[in-house]
Amino acid sequence: MLDDLNIRAATLEDIPEITTIFRDTIRAVNSRDYNEKQIAVWSSGADDIDKWEERIKKLYFIVAEIGDTIVGFSYLTKGYYLDGLFVHKDFQRQTIASKLLRIMESRVSINGFDTIKSDVSITALEFFDSHFYEVEKKQKKSHKGMVFENYIVYKNL
Ligand SMILES: CC(C)(COP(=O)(O)OP(=O)(O)OC[C@H]1O[C@@H](n2cnc3c(N)ncnc32)[C@H](O)[C@@H]1OP(=O)(O)O)[C@@H](O)C(=O)NCCC(=O)NCCS
Repeated sequence: MLDDLNIRAATLEDIPEITTIFRDTIRAVNSRDYNEKQIAVWSSGADDIDKWEERIKKLYFIVAEIGDTIVGFSYLTKGYYLDGLFVHKDFQRQTIASKLLRIMESRVSINGFDTIKSDVSITALEFFDSHFYEVEKKQKKSHKGMVFENYIVYKNL
């Protein structure tokens, strides 16, 4: 099935699917590591449509799809900072994130940087570890009045 995986630039028409994945994956997957209030605050970021529009217009933002269904997405800020990487809750552990990450790493190199960085959730740490990312530090980050524990990771390309 993953032979049919297509990766392309995101468009504004993808916003409903992208925001649904963002909301549902946080609720279904990240809820393993964060409490109910944190999940509610974090997933509510799906409703900020202006912000998603701005990200798609201004950033390097890609989606992975199988047929007509978007199954994952990722975007870069500052040319080297992986700011988002999400896989559809029903398509976890099928190498979709690995494929998106490979493209993001190539893009960072093309942009002239030799290190890729990210803030990653507790949930995603093992994924990044399996891709040879190092932890720079564990941090507590404030978001909409809530404190989230996560990790800054990096990899020299
Ligand atoms: C983290 C995430 C993006 C990984 O996506 P994925 O498509 O399932 O990842 P892959 O299938 O490419 O995983 C590749 C390898 O990473 C490791 N890995 C991935 N998820 C893992 C998990 N939950 N626990 C342990 N190892 C994991 C494994 O080694 C895996 O290989 P394997 O399945 O053969 O064991 C996905 O779980 C997700 O959307 N999480 C919620 C959102 C999130 O936290 N995003 C991170 C930025 S905040």
